[in-house]
Amino acid sequence: MYYPEEVVEEVRAKNDIVDVVSGYVKLQKKGGNYWACCPFHGEKTPSFSVSGSKQMYHCFGCGVSGNVYTFVMKYENYTFPEAVRMLAERAGVKLPEVEYSEEQKARASRRARLLEVNKEAAKFFYFQLRSPHGTTGYQYLQKRELTDETMHRFGLGYAGKNGAELVQYLRSKGFEDDLIKEAGLANFSERHGLVSQFWNRVMFPIQDANNRVIGFGGRVMGDGEPKYLNSPETPVFDKRRNLYGLNFARTARSGNIILCEGYMDVIAMHQAGFTQAVASLGTAFTPEQANLLKRYTDNVLLAYDSDGAGVKAALRGIGILREAGLTGKVINMKPYKDPDEFMKALGREAFQERINRAENSFFFEIRILESQYDMSDPESKTKFHREIAKKLCEFTEDVERDNYLQAIAEKYFIGIENLRKLVTTYAAQTGLAKPVERPKSGIQQKNKPEESAKKSQRLLITWITDEPSVYGKIRKYITPDDFTEELYRKVAERLFADMDAGNFNPAGIISTFEDEEEQHEAAELFNTNLPELGTKQEREKALHDILLAVKKSSYEYFSTRLGSDVNALNQVIEGKKALEELAKLHISLD
Ligand code: GTP
Ligand code: MN
Repeated sequence: MYYPEEVVEEVRAKNDIVDVVSGYVKLQKKGGNYWACCPFHGEKTPSFSVSGSKQMYHCFGCGVSGNVYTFVMKYENYTFPEAVRMLAERAGVKLPEVEYSEEQKARASRRARLLEVNKEAAKFFYFQLRSPHGTTGYQYLQKRELTDETMHRFGLGYAGKNGAELVQYLRSKGFEDDLIKEAGLANFSERHGLVSQFWNRVMFPIQDANNRVIGFGGRVMGDGEPKYLNSPETPVFDKRRNLYGLNFARTARSGNIILCEGYMDVIAMHQAGFTQAVASLGTAFTPEQANLLKRYTDNVLLAYDSDGAGVKAALRGIGILREAGLTGKVINMKPYKDPDEFMKALGREAFQERINRAENSFFFEIRILESQYDMSDPESKTKFHREIAKKLCEFTEDVERDNYLQAIAEKYFIGIENLRKLVTTYAAQTGLAKPVERPKSGIQQKNKPEESAKKSQRLLITWITDEPSVYGKIRKYITPDDFTEELYRKVAERLFADMDAGNFNPAGIISTFEDEEEQHEAAELFNTNLPELGTKQEREKALHDILLAVKKSSYEYFSTRLGSDVNALNQVIEGKKALEELAKLHISLD
């Protein structure tokens, strides 16, 4: 951690969240909380709430939550240390000087060192591109119609033909060989020693949402294999959880995010003014990336290649977005292959036009389906209609399904009643709302066992922080180890230790996590939407059920780990006892 934990906590405690937030948005008191229209997503009725007692905010519309630090980080686009500095100044707290002495360097976490070596490598590549040695790279990028400004903005660089130079440079800056290797910047060979992983390529530094260089993509200039060489996964480079361009897109405030396939697409889009474009990192789009996007928008536009592979990738992407609860639309790039080519040929206005006309993702799926059938053949056409019915069954909500049914019937000239009958027949055969197989489109409820276990764990933490008095009543039955998700367990450990000591300080726990991702996840834990329950009995039963679910999932979790986890046996024995007691227990919420 950049600043000592006590200082971080002092600064937080001296900045009342209600005061700070009201400096940005107009808050209105209603009940125990303050309310406003959410500054992080567009809305007309207030669903953004700030709690003075929890020292946290939560939006019931878009789901963001956090403490005073995450608020200013998100609002001002600050990194965590920047937020600490700003709030320290606001509250008149003097921060200790942060200097990197040799000794501190040695103590600094591996992660920080990896980020440093990446940053230094990015600098090296950057200057190479702009030096006489980098002419080939520079000319290549010019040929791709990138301006100097764009090259600068994305920190583009060049890895020369001499694979030893980078290593020498990094060594001269005090980085050890094993660090350089671990960062994926160089490989060791018997013959040549440590040599750069990237060689004779233009370099795309990959930055996380906080502008830190976490890895690289290197492109050959011209033809050659592989076209792109990416850094391997490292402790700071998680390809599943980052997106190229997100550091800029997060503040674009354009109401949508455009998901592209390639780095060059993102860069071309940004150059044309579409700074909301992002791309996955040389791998297919992941559910983790969808969740990341969800923090910034509800609306994702897919700008994938218009070829067969692109369409396939788009279909997969749509499923992932839908599962994350995002609306996906598809931008038609035809007759061009990708956004980069489109932009070069037709320019920004034409692209804006395509954005406006982006196709609803379900319609897109059906249109692609249609192309697989011969509409002049009644047999084939019937099959197509059956497939439509099958896909409509994947909507679990009646209203939504029926709206789509009507729209599709109209679009494809199918008798609406006939289609409805087909859907009913199909649903009767398979059981509606219970997709038998994993649907290709990805419409599916989230009811995996780990998901529901996590949900119960979140509910329990939120309940305890909303109503600290229940803690004493359940303490006997629950331990932090029952929280099987690592981050949840860490939160529970802190929360329980604090509460055992008579402190109640959930907002402080959030800032003990270094990583912004983790801060958000921790904040979510304290802000799950609890079921709305009227009577005391209902509430008591709900709490009992949640407690039981947490205990049960922990028992099951450890049961499968007997033999591989030394802690497991103890947990299983205790868990069994607690479960038996819990079955008889009545929790009273008086
Ligand atoms: P240009 O071809 O230069 O326009 O780049 P592009 O970004 O449009 O690339 P393309 O559409 O071919 O590929 C999309 C993305 O897939 C790239 O940005 C890379 O992240 C990744 N990719 C492409 N080729 C390779 C490869 O050979 N190896 C790896 N690991 N990733 C690749
Ligand atoms: Mn391309």
